[in-house]
Amino acid sequence: MRTVRRQLRRGDSCFRALVLMIVSVCAATMGAWVWGSGALLFKKRLVIEMSHHQLSLNGPGASDGVQTPPASAVQSREAIVTTSNKVCPPCPDAKPPPPSVLPMASDPKGMNCSVNGDYLIGCRKDGDEVFMPASFVKKFFDKGVYEFRYSYGSVHPPTPVYEPGGAFLNFYRYFVEVRGMLLCTTASEGVPLAIQWDPAGYFYPITVAQFGLAHHAKGIVNGNPEPKVLSSGDLGPAGWKLPQDGSGSIKVVEEQVKGVTRKVLAFNAPESMTGEGPTFVINSEELALCVSIKMTSPGGGLTIKVKTKKFPVAYLHFTHEDTYMRVDGAHITLGMKQKNFGKWMRLTRDLDVDIIKGFNSAKDHLKQTIEVLEVTLHGRGFIDNMTVAATAHNENLMHAADWLVENQDQKGGWPTSSALDNFEMQLPPGWYSAMGQGQGMSALVRAYNLTGDRKYLESAEKALYLYTVSKIPIGILHLKLGSEEGGVRARFLGQLDWYEEYPTVPTSSFVLNGFIFSMMGLYDVMKTSEGEPQRLAEKLWDSGMRSLKFMLGMYDTGAGTLYDLRHVINHEPPNRARWDYHVTHIALIHEMAIVDGDPIFWEAWARWKGYLKGIRSHHN
Ligand SMILES: *[C@@H]1O[C@H](CO)[C@@H](O)[C@H](O)[C@H]1NC(C)=O
Ligand SMILES: *[C@@H]1O[C@H](CO)[C@@H](O)[C@H](O)[C@H]1NC(C)=O
Ligand SMILES: *[C@@H]1O[C@H](CO)[C@@H](O)[C@H](O)[C@H]1NC(C)=O
Repeated sequence: MRTVRRQLRRGDSCFRALVLMIVSVCAATMGAWVWGSGALLFKKRLVIEMSHHQLSLNGPGASDGVQTPPASAVQSREAIVTTSNKVCPPCPDAKPPPPSVLPMASDPKGMNCSVNGDYLIGCRKDGDEVFMPASFVKKFFDKGVYEFRYSYGSVHPPTPVYEPGGAFLNFYRYFVEVRGMLLCTTASEGVPLAIQWDPAGYFYPITVAQFGLAHHAKGIVNGNPEPKVLSSGDLGPAGWKLPQDGSGSIKVVEEQVKGVTRKVLAFNAPESMTGEGPTFVINSEELALCVSIKMTSPGGGLTIKVKTKKFPVAYLHFTHEDTYMRVDGAHITLGMKQKNFGKWMRLTRDLDVDIIKGFNSAKDHLKQTIEVLEVTLHGRGFIDNMTVAATAHNENLMHAADWLVENQDQKGGWPTSSALDNFEMQLPPGWYSAMGQGQGMSALVRAYNLTGDRKYLESAEKALYLYTVSKIPIGILHLKLGSEEGGVRARFLGQLDWYEEYPTVPTSSFVLNGFIFSMMGLYDVMKTSEGEPQRLAEKLWDSGMRSLKFMLGMYDTGAGTLYDLRHVINHEPPNRARWDYHVTHIALIHEMAIVDGDPIFWEAWARWKGYLKGIRSHHN
């Protein structure tokens, strides 16, 4: 038995590949029975060893999430675990699964198959072949399709060349703003509002940056359609219908816009947000609507009517209320905030996202909105540059970049106002993340690339500072000065610089993906800036690279990767990266290989991809 098991283990990948091939063919033709290879027979018993990460399911869309919560489906895949004979009695052992309800084999063609040595199931033998019941095999597969995969992650390679102005990683695949832990894309800032750690809402710098980076990447990969200008000061009041009772007006006037005199449209209508007013009929299936608006009467604003799957007419109201989002039946109100009253605001609305968020209709897929019908103006104010297009990717990036510029503090940081407090980690409100700094820098460098406006690059350069600051007080002198703390830099064993996604004290976690994202930000600044900031970015990049090359092996289990190094630092069990994160690691290490070229990155990349297919490293 032992020899066979060993052989099975040794021939692991061959065995699995064979089963894979065989089962997919036979499941189709035979339906109820699946066969294994007769070569694996031993003493009339087939021994099957399975662990969830060798044979797992092709779960739908499971790999989209950087930072998504684990799918509960992952747990069910762990129903069958390999148990090993531990020698230390107090060791908690993996629980064997409930005994199979399948009848034991009794007829002459029958044989017993042992699963992990824990229980037997009845199988059938025909010549050299062994058939396993489909009812047993089925639980390894979703949707009744017998598709064998060793992991549910799929690799989406980045572009072969990395450029600071180019598509960020494989982010073109991410729909950041529809994620479940985000309330809405705010009207006041034009970026997503997080509610994960605080139901009142807060801006999470990483999410804001990712929102911008994902849109920018989508624009590069899928194209940026030229928006259709519906109305502007230059086009005049054409297309606007006034209420029958003569209560509204719209006309061209001259206004100061960013210090320049320009023609815009001035409107005047009753203040009620649900009343009548100048209306522009759009009737478009393209759902990215953008408009500049400046209100001079506080109760007014703009209403967009849309046709949705849920309501034949749903209303999106934009007004200067201090709310982020309020929903009442078919009416969704998105607050432009009182502080912005009397200022020009740019509304960039992915209407489908607004509808999905407002009606909570779908957490992770689009297309709840069928058509944008019309726009109606309320109260007094000005509008300009109303456009419609299928997407408005670069405008979304610019909202993220503007948020980053406006919300950067004295230290060049983007603090998170919400505390991080879960069973693993605690950080007080106002904490910085190296990943937030890095992704902020990557988004800003792209905004600079698009606009040529140096304020974006300068903001990215300011963000370098916290990389140079230790996350803990490193001595009395520093305590006295009070300046050398609160940064994002840790040191592994006091030797190697590490930029921390979660700069917890006293122990660090050394999260791999957050570190590499922080490195990408350094790379972008290093390749874009000049002079002193360029030299600083390069210095930080070099010392981070040195650490990464030293430490990379510690994240490699030979069968997968580890999320962090808490097992090294804290004597905790190794924190295995779930497949979502493993494929993120693959994409990140691929990018490191592309920009740095060191064979250790290319080798890790190839090896880590192999883990997805059940190929493990050598053992002794
Ligand atoms: C399978 O196992 C059951 C229970 O141990 C036993 O009764 C039966 O005879 C076995 N069948 C074969 C073919 O070995
Ligand atoms: C913007 O990025 C593109 C692609 O990386 C690059 O070719 C171009 O030179 C950049 N432009 C500026 C102004 O940095
Ligand atoms: C409308 O677009 C033009 C051209 O891009 C721009 O100059 C103007 O400032 C915009 N209007 C407003 C109100 O932003």
